[in-house]
Amino acid sequence: MKQGEIIRNTLIQAGYYRVDFHAPEICQTARPGHFVHVRIPNLTHRILRRPFSICNCTPSGNLSVLYKTVGEGTAALSELKPGTVCELMGPLGNPFSFPKADEYPVLVNGGYGAAATFMLTREAPNGGLMLLGARSATDLLLVKEYQEAGFEVRVSTDDGSAGHRGLVTDLVHQVIAEKTDRKLHFYACGPEPMLMALTRILGEKNLPGEISLDHVMCCGVGACFACVVKVKDDNADGWRYARSCKEGPVFKAEHLYLEQ
Ligand SMILES: Cc1cc2nc3c(=O)[nH]c(=O)nc-3n(C[C@H](O)[C@H](O)[C@H](O)COP(=O)(O)OP(=O)(O)OC[C@H]3O[C@@H](n4cnc5c(N)ncnc54)[C@H](O)[C@@H]3O)c2cc1C
Ligand code: FES
Repeated sequence: MKQGEIIRNTLIQAGYYRVDFHAPEICQTARPGHFVHVRIPNLTHRILRRPFSICNCTPSGNLSVLYKTVGEGTAALSELKPGTVCELMGPLGNPFSFPKADEYPVLVNGGYGAAATFMLTREAPNGGLMLLGARSATDLLLVKEYQEAGFEVRVSTDDGSAGHRGLVTDLVHQVIAEKTDRKLHFYACGPEPMLMALTRILGEKNLPGEISLDHVMCCGVGACFACVVKVKDDNADGWRYARSCKEGPVFKAEHLYLEQ
């Protein structure tokens, strides 16, 4: 168990916060796609930990998480003041693979999924493209930060308040049609229906991709089976359950089992 002192915990836009923990030990080995399981000290009567993607780590050992307040745990987290020390487990899970020099990384994110892929901007030797989908302009996260890191950003919103009006998968189709001279490699995180739609497209087009599934979790370390997802298998059913906290949260798209 590691300790993380809160350095800052601020509202960055309506409903979304950024918390920075001083967690040098975790930062030493953290990679894009890893997550931390945070014990929220002021949550007393419910499961005490919540999983969050590691958005960034600084050389001085500050680890940032971007989170949306959706329920009791995230609301309690948003009330914690700098100086509070939280227990952190991490880095947990299987991260994304290192982008290769001959590949063009295309990140496909929905909402706070943009946090999970952010550290890939440091590992991609030649930049890349980030496609970000959200309900509305006010739900778009990290656009400036991705641009400053050398990534082109294209956005879609359900209500048309920014970028393309429609689904982020529409942008995926556009990119596949447009970048025929590039060796595309997809990295994605976001709502499950979006990820499953992307997985289907990649399968149809025979393109490689890695998908981070933010499935509801409990123990975070492979002991409780609360987080299982279906992956392909060569048994009679054609699938088996995999624990997303252990074998994921990042899975190769070609390994995920899609319901018909
Ligand atoms: C590997 C991983 C990485 C994650 N990274 C981030 C992140 O970077 N930023 C962030 O804001 N959230 C992230 N999440 C989701 C985050 O863990 C949940 O939003 C949080 O646990 C909800 O806690 P709560 O007590 O506030 O809400 P609860 O009271 O437990 O639930 C409130 C609502 O949120 C939904 N919810 C709960 N857990 C999840 C989940 N895992 N995914 C989607 N919806 C959920 C519930 O179904 C319910 O509708 C991640 C989850 C996983 C598994
Ligand atoms: S959360 Fe317990 S096994 Fe994954």
